[in-house]
Amino acid sequence: MTHIITLIPGDGIGKEVIPAAQAMLESLNLPIQFQHADAGFGTFERCGNALPPTTLELCQQSDAILFGATSSPMTKVEGYQSPILGLRRHFDLFANLRPAVRDEIDLLIVRENTEGLYSGRERIEDGGATAITERVITARASERIVRVACQQAVQRRGKLTIVHKANVLKETCGLFRRVALEVIREFPTLDVEEMLVDTTAMRLVQDPARFDVIVTTNLFGDILSDLAAGLTGGLGLAPSANLGSNRPVLFEPVHGSAPDIAGKGIADPRAAILCAGMVLDHLGYSELAGTVRQIAYATPHSGATRQTLDNIIEQVQQEIGHVV
Ligand code: IPM
Ligand code: MN
Repeated sequence: MTHIITLIPGDGIGKEVIPAAQAMLESLNLPIQFQHADAGFGTFERCGNALPPTTLELCQQSDAILFGATSSPMTKVEGYQSPILGLRRHFDLFANLRPAVRDEIDLLIVRENTEGLYSGRERIEDGGATAITERVITARASERIVRVACQQAVQRRGKLTIVHKANVLKETCGLFRRVALEVIREFPTLDVEEMLVDTTAMRLVQDPARFDVIVTTNLFGDILSDLAAGLTGGLGLAPSANLGSNRPVLFEPVHGSAPDIAGKGIADPRAAILCAGMVLDHLGYSELAGTVRQIAYATPHSGATRQTLDNIIEQVQQEIGHVV
């Protein structure tokens, strides 16, 4: 059976790291067929749509999507919407899994991916003097994200931290918390705690090894996953998976398009290669996935994308050779 993977490099260094992830996968000689699709700010400038329907169709036909990065302008650009947010929404990719691994640290942030402060419900009042973003939390989205986190924790070290700010955000975080405490009753073997998000930030810095699985709402998960990346080698080593209840599944490095270094051939390809490792896991090649993961984490970035990629591919080949 051939697996179909859609590659969406996007903008900036996405165009350098996604081909690296593709080369990594191609070097393994697996029955994978690649298809290429456009999205991002460059696509928007060319055709007026950052996420064209043809891209959605290609994604729809695939088992997995490898997504690079896209530019996110700081100010509103009429008609432009972030394609990664569009893809998450379109395919209802509600669970964003963000592992952070280094030395004694091995934690997984499970970030709700469809609502919270990312619900897109923003407005201006008072002739521009007041800006409002609505934070939408639903029982349905909270329930399914906490269930995914529990399932992950069961397969790992059995520890779950529910992160919220229910002492202040009584309604939204209150609902998330109540639903979470309900769902965990289905998983009596787990060791569960709850922690305020500000405390979590501090404890992540002080004692990251104490964490196993963290589950939280959208924006908190966005911020804490960058923090965790900073503790474990930086964004160059932070991959993520966006999962829904069906195909396709989307994998993306946590880093952005890095316009300052784009086009120079110096982008760190390891986060994208770790995403390729997650693709392998997803397709059922768990042993190969483990090999790619272990070598990508252990190999320093040489400073040149191509060189780092070649170093990793060479070691993976050696390792596979030993096994054969
Ligand atoms: C991420 C990114 C995105 C997010 C942006 C680019 C919309 O920061 O994947 O973490 O905030 O989710
Ligand atoms: Mn982010």
